[in-house]
Amino acid sequence: MSSTDATPEEDMLIIHGGTPLEGDVTVRGAKNLVSKAMVAALLGTSPSVLRSVPAIRDVEVVTGLLRVHGVDVELDGDTLYMDPTSVESAGVEEINVHAGTSRIPILLCGPLLHRLGRAFIPDLGGCNIGGRPIDFHLDALREFGAVVEKDASGTHLSAPNGLHGIRYELDFPSVGATEQVLLTAVMAKGTTELRNAAIEPEIIDLICVLQKMGAIIKVHTNRVIEIVGVDELKGYRHRALPDRIEAASWASAALATEGSVFVRGAQQADMMTFLNVFRSIGGAYEVDDDPVEGGIRFWHPGTALKPVALETDVHPGLMTDWQQPIVVALTQADGLSIMHETVYENRFGYTSELRRMGANIELYSDCLGGTPCRWGRRNFLHSAVIAGPSKLHAADLQIPDLRAGFSHLIAAMAAEGTSRVYGVDRYITRGYENFEEKLLGLGAKIERPVTK
Ligand code: EPU
Repeated sequence: MSSTDATPEEDMLIIHGGTPLEGDVTVRGAKNLVSKAMVAALLGTSPSVLRSVPAIRDVEVVTGLLRVHGVDVELDGDTLYMDPTSVESAGVEEINVHAGTSRIPILLCGPLLHRLGRAFIPDLGGCNIGGRPIDFHLDALREFGAVVEKDASGTHLSAPNGLHGIRYELDFPSVGATEQVLLTAVMAKGTTELRNAAIEPEIIDLICVLQKMGAIIKVHTNRVIEIVGVDELKGYRHRALPDRIEAASWASAALATEGSVFVRGAQQADMMTFLNVFRSIGGAYEVDDDPVEGGIRFWHPGTALKPVALETDVHPGLMTDWQQPIVVALTQADGLSIMHETVYENRFGYTSELRRMGANIELYSDCLGGTPCRWGRRNFLHSAVIAGPSKLHAADLQIPDLRAGFSHLIAAMAAEGTSRVYGVDRYITRGYENFEEKLLGLGAKIERPVTK
């Protein structure tokens, strides 16, 4: 059943809380690299092979987008074969089938302008966690030489005179806008210099993909990336880096439920900031760096958790996508914790559901406990104070977005009693592979409602 067919009652998970999660899970390639590496395949003159691809809905969405543009996409196990040799323009209606489901369509612009001279972007989807503008993307594309025209159906782009290299500085080190510039500059005429670029591990992995295809990309100090445009790129073979957001989600679930979870595939180097936070809260972990079977075991050591003051930031800071699972774990810490969200203006909506479960969380528009950020001046409720420990009790919860959704699951598993969590297929399957099987494997007491 697809998530769009399900009724609210069907799209629900019943969770009997109070059981520690114990066991092993495996994380595969990072959603936020895999979807971009799939777009990069469009630039090649020969097929690409991507390994460690997770079975998540965002991969299905990008598969659909590639297919409507004539790319032959086949999945065999967790290996994706993409043949872009017959790329063609797609109609607005065909593309619109994928409208509102993901933010990836915008990243197709540069590759499609190179391959076909035109591109179309439908309404974008993705999580509702702030305004999520695309001004950096469109501004950079215009600088490259694209003509951008909006109408009721969406945004149409063309490149009547081709695309040329640019010198560009981002107002904020946006992940998506950095990817946009990379995917466009690799085949633009001349050299591009991007300042204030994002340097998340997923971006470095995308740069590795592009380099395998024949691109010339230099990552300098101080967030400067230089790209020398080339005339042709070929296909790549690549294994996606593991999903550090999923890994941290399982780690936080282990802590909040007083359990112990071995996350096979989790890599220390990409998670250093999270590991430091996990240890300062009082969590324990052990790294096994075996290249095949390795990962990180995370567990609750049985002693009281400690409060901390944290703020999210761009890499190498604390990822904004780690914020929600950590906040659930902090409801169990002994004292006052602070979480200052500096990346998105509206990423604490989910805390109202946690409050209904007995969590003591207050939101503030001030930049608490850290550096002043752009949201403080604009009065957004972007700082949270969490007073713990709170005994969480069961509730009926409505998932508002992907990461918040997984946090609701964690809270329901940590709570006493039986919760009903609505929206699991719609949101969680976007980014968590086989999450129900994994939860059952860890001993969670979950069930689907009996439907007629
Ligand atoms: N921004 C602008 N203008 C733009 C683009 C971004 O003002 O044109 C602002 C955003 O509004 C936000 C900030 O810049 O305040 C950072 O946004 P960014 O562009 O970095 O985010 P993104 O590329 O849209 C990706 C991930 C997100 C993750 C962020 C930050 C994907 C598909 N999404 O989004 O992941 O939170 O980077 O690391 O890669 C998730 O996986 O659940 C998720 C939301």
